[in-house]
Amino acid sequence: MPAQVTRHAGSFTVTSATPVLLYSDDPASRFAVQHFVDTLGQTSALRLHVADGGSVSPHAAIVFQLDPGAEVTQRGGYSLDVSPQGVRVIARTPVGLYYGGVTLGQLLTPNADRKAGVEVPALQIQDWPRFQWRGLMLDSARHFQSIADIEKLLDWMSLLKLNVLHWHLTDDQGWRLQIPKYPLLTKIGACRKAVGPDAALTGSPDKPYCGFYTDAEVRQIVQYAAQRHITIVPEIDMPGHAQAAIASYPWLGVTGERPPVGTDWGINTWLLKPDARTLKFVDAVMDEVMALFPSKYIHIGGDEAAKDQWNASPAVRAHMHALGLKNMDQLQDWFMTQVAEYLAKHGRTAVGWDEILHGNVPASTVVMSWHAPKGAEQALQLGHDVVMSTSPTLYLDHYQSDLHDEPPGRPDVESLEDVYDYDPVPSGATATQVAHILGVQANLWTEYMPTFARAEHAVFPRIAALAEVAWSPAATHDWHGFLDRMPVEFARWRALGVDYADSAFAPAFALQAGAQGTIDVALSNQAGFGAIHYTTDGSAPTLASMPYSKPLSLPAGRTTTLRAATFASDGFELAAPRTQTVDAAALRTRNSDQLDSCTNQVVLRLEDDRPLQGKRPVYKVDIENMCWLWKAAPLDEVRKIALTVGNLPWNFALWTDNAKVVKRPKATPAGEFQIHLDTCKGPLLATLPLAAATKTKLQTTLVATIPATQGTHDLCIFASGDPRDGLWAIGKMQLLKR
Ligand code: ACM
Repeated sequence: MPAQVTRHAGSFTVTSATPVLLYSDDPASRFAVQHFVDTLGQTSALRLHVADGGSVSPHAAIVFQLDPGAEVTQRGGYSLDVSPQGVRVIARTPVGLYYGGVTLGQLLTPNADRKAGVEVPALQIQDWPRFQWRGLMLDSARHFQSIADIEKLLDWMSLLKLNVLHWHLTDDQGWRLQIPKYPLLTKIGACRKAVGPDAALTGSPDKPYCGFYTDAEVRQIVQYAAQRHITIVPEIDMPGHAQAAIASYPWLGVTGERPPVGTDWGINTWLLKPDARTLKFVDAVMDEVMALFPSKYIHIGGDEAAKDQWNASPAVRAHMHALGLKNMDQLQDWFMTQVAEYLAKHGRTAVGWDEILHGNVPASTVVMSWHAPKGAEQALQLGHDVVMSTSPTLYLDHYQSDLHDEPPGRPDVESLEDVYDYDPVPSGATATQVAHILGVQANLWTEYMPTFARAEHAVFPRIAALAEVAWSPAATHDWHGFLDRMPVEFARWRALGVDYADSAFAPAFALQAGAQGTIDVALSNQAGFGAIHYTTDGSAPTLASMPYSKPLSLPAGRTTTLRAATFASDGFELAAPRTQTVDAAALRTRNSDQLDSCTNQVVLRLEDDRPLQGKRPVYKVDIENMCWLWKAAPLDEVRKIALTVGNLPWNFALWTDNAKVVKRPKATPAGEFQIHLDTCKGPLLATLPLAAATKTKLQTTLVATIPATQGTHDLCIFASGDPRDGLWAIGKMQLLKR
C-alpha cells in the first residue's frame, strides 16, 4: 500500500501499443523500466516496448522520468500519476523508478488476461518507504539453495520492494562460502552426513549433503540483487554456530579436537577460540567477504554462543583474566569488538544478533534484535541502530497454519495475520530511539526447509505482510484492506511461478457427531476470507458449486467425499481444493495433528526420512516424550485399535534437555506402543509390539484387540524406549468396530 493515493475522475487505458518512454540515459533507470515491461509481460497479456523519450512527445504514453528535482525526496520514493492523457512515473533516483514500475505493474494486473487493454483509474500516488531496511534472512547453511533459486527469490523480493537479503552463510551444519585462503572450509566444512530428509536429497543416507557458493557465483548474485536494488548482507556467524569451521580447521576451536560438521539441530558448544590466531583467520575471511560483498553492513552473528568450552578451558580463562575481563560474556564482547573494529577500519559496519549486548561492543554496531522486547529495548537504550527481527512472529520456520497438510516446522502457528499485525516499534520507545530503528526483517531458518519449494511455501505470502509493515506508513495498516489485495497478488505470483502457501485461505473441516445417524461438518479458513464452495461427489469445486454458509449435516451411515475450495469475489481460486471423507469411521480416526501431546515439552512437526522418493508423512511429535492423548475417544462397540506409526532419526541432541527426555522400559527388544485408559497410569487397554515396524523404514500399521469398553474415555498412547535411539511417531490412530 503506497504512502499516499489520491483518486481523480477519469481513467487511462493501457494496451500493448501504448509506448513506454524513458527520459533518462543511465543504465539503472533503463534496467528499472525494462524490468517493469518484462515482469508485466509475465503477469499480464500486455506486451509493452521501451523507447527512448528523447524528442518524442509524451502523448498517451507511459513515461518514466529521472528528475533530481522530483517532488518526492525520500530515498526510494517516486510519484506516479495516471490521467486520461497517460501515465507518468517520476523519481530522483533509479531505485525510485524501479519501485514506481513495480507499483504501476500492480495497477495494471487486475484483469491481467485482457489483451484489448487495461483501464487504470486516474490517480496520483506519492510513495516512499517507512523503513530503509526491509529484509529477509535466508539460511543457506542448514539447507542449501541453488543460485537460480536465490535469483528467483531476489526478483520476487524486489516486487515487494524489499531491499535486504541477509545471507546466513555459515553455521554448525555447513560453511557455504568459498574462501580461497582457507580451502578446507568448503572442502570439509561444506559437507555433512545426510540427516533425516537429507537422504532424500542426496539419494542415500550414505551420500553426504554438500554445497557451497564460489566467488564467481557470489559476484553474480550480488550483481543480480543490485540491479533490483537489493543489498546482500552476508553473515559469518561467530564465535558460536562455528562447528563447520572447526571441523575444517580444528585449531580454530578450543579443544583442538576435530568435530564432524554438525548434523544435530540446536545450540551447540563448539565455539571459536577467542585468540590472536583465530582473529587473524577471521580478518582474512572478512577480507574475502568485503571483496565479494559491497554491502556497508556485514553480519558477524554472535547468537547462541554457549560458553561451556570457554569456561572449561584454562587457556581461555587465562586470556579473559589477562584482558581484565570478569566473565565470558565480556570476553565475547571483546572478541566481537575486535571484528567490528576491523570492519570499521575498512569502512564497513558490523551487525550482530542481540546477544552481543553486554554493554561493551561499539555503539556503531547494528543490533539485530530477535529477543522481544528486551533485546530491542536494550539496544535502543545503548544508542545502537536496530533491525527488528522478532522471534517467533517473524521467524518463518514456524508453520503458518495448523492444517494437517501444512509442511513441517516449529510450533506455534505464526499466521499471515500475525506477521501483518507485527509492530516494529517497541512500546515506550522515544522519538530518538525510533529514529534508530533501521527497519524490519523476517528470517527463514532452513532446518525444516530441505527444498526451495518448502522455502517458497514458508516465505510467501507471509513476506507480503512483512513488506507492507516495512514499507507502508503505520496509518495505512488495515488487515482487511490487505486481504482484499491478496487475490491479485496471488494471481501475479501464480503467473511468475511462485509456489506460495494458500494456508490462510484453505478450508478446514471440523467433524462432530450430530443428531441420530448424522455428522455435522463445519468448514472454515484461518483468515475468514473468501467464499468456500464444496462438492459431495468427489469432483473439484468451482465457483458454481454449493456455497458454504452453515454446518452441513451428512449421513454417518455411508461415506461422503467432501471437497471444498475457497474463492475470491472475482472467482479467483484462493485455496486449492481440500478433501475430507465423512462417515462414522472418520469420527473414530485421528491424525497426529489431532492428538494432543502428553507434556508439550519440545513439540515439532517433522517429516519422515522415508520413502526416499515421493511424498513423506509429517508427524507432530514431542521429541522428548513419545506420548499422545486422545481426549474423549468414543469407545462404544470398539473392538480394535489400529495405530499407523513411523520411526524418525534422532538429530536433536542440541535442542533437548537430556534430563527431561522421557524413557520407558521395553517389554520386548523392539519395544512397543501401549494404550492406557483415562490416564497414562490407567488400566492397560492394548500393547502393540514394534517388532514388525522395525523391519521396515516405512510407515507400519499395528492392530490390537481391546476389551469391550463403554462410553467416551481419554486415551493415553506412548512408545517404550528412548527417543534418542529412534523417535517413534503416530501418523494415524483408528478405533475399529471390527
Ligand atoms: C537466532 O535465531 N539464533 C538468531
